[in-house]
Amino acid sequence: MKRINIGLLGLGNIGTGTYKVLEMNRAHIEKTTGLNLEITKILEIDTERDRGIAIDPGKFTQDPRDILDDPGIDIVIELLGGIEPASSFMHTALKAGKHVVTANKAAVAANFELLTETAEKNGALLRYEASVGGGIPLINAITTALAANEFSELLGILNGTTNYILTKMTEEDRSYEEVLKEAQEKGFAEADPTGDVEGYDVANKLSILVSLVFGERVLPDDIPTTGVSGITKADIENAEEAGCVIKLLASAFRDDEGVHCFVQPTMLNKQHPLADVPGEFNALFLKGNAVDDLMFYGKGAGPFPTASAVLGDVIGIAKEIKRESK
Ligand code: HSE
Repeated sequence: MKRINIGLLGLGNIGTGTYKVLEMNRAHIEKTTGLNLEITKILEIDTERDRGIAIDPGKFTQDPRDILDDPGIDIVIELLGGIEPASSFMHTALKAGKHVVTANKAAVAANFELLTETAEKNGALLRYEASVGGGIPLINAITTALAANEFSELLGILNGTTNYILTKMTEEDRSYEEVLKEAQEKGFAEADPTGDVEGYDVANKLSILVSLVFGERVLPDDIPTTGVSGITKADIENAEEAGCVIKLLASAFRDDEGVHCFVQPTMLNKQHPLADVPGEFNALFLKGNAVDDLMFYGKGAGPFPTASAVLGDVIGIAKEIKRESK
């Protein structure tokens, strides 16, 4: 069995979910891939919190160099969130030829060229499936199975927290504050949920998708963005009276003048397929010139769906390492 050593940066909601899913499915992963994936070091300050898992205290470090400078570590999983120091840690790991897996949309959107080019120059792999759409394998599909297409448009619900808030406010007539708190408790929201509710999280994800789908760089700050913090019960009732629901949508399309993108709450007719996307689910429509219309759907937030994508990336890289070592 090929052993792969992993350094984990951050044991928050997603880090803990990743650790748990790896243990829960270890036997299955070993049987189906022939890989023994071991998280050998964890960068984390909070070593006391009860996470419902037993972790050897010797694995914890508070010095990133213990992971980034360790030649025995094959893959670094970055789950710290935020642009810095996460981007610098990933850059350092890639420069050292380590493979990197991240769920960090803010860091990838802000430093897309730097990180992808550093990976390429140093023969390292950078994977970020979990950064967009949680457990939905969007990036894999766009960059492999759909790579032969030219795309003309995309439209999606890309934030689980706000979709959860809008769903519960609509269906259960509950207050914005109460439902946001619940989304935080369920591990959907970011540590600081401002980015979720103001739409910046979606702008980061849209920026990444636009790079991959259209091959164009649009920085998150250049995407006109409105979040849901201003949506009131009255807005929801007015939409309801018009036979509509309010959804926070990410849109991008290409015309003769280039790529246009924006993030905004939108009234959708209840017949529209995106109107039915509930809770923390995400969905994405794509239109390719060969494949035509496609829709992806699945859980876009939460520790286990996100861990599914993180570990999928880890397994993909580990298979490459195993193949190259033959
Ligand atoms: N806070 C994000 C969301 C997590 O609610 O969608 C997944 O990116």
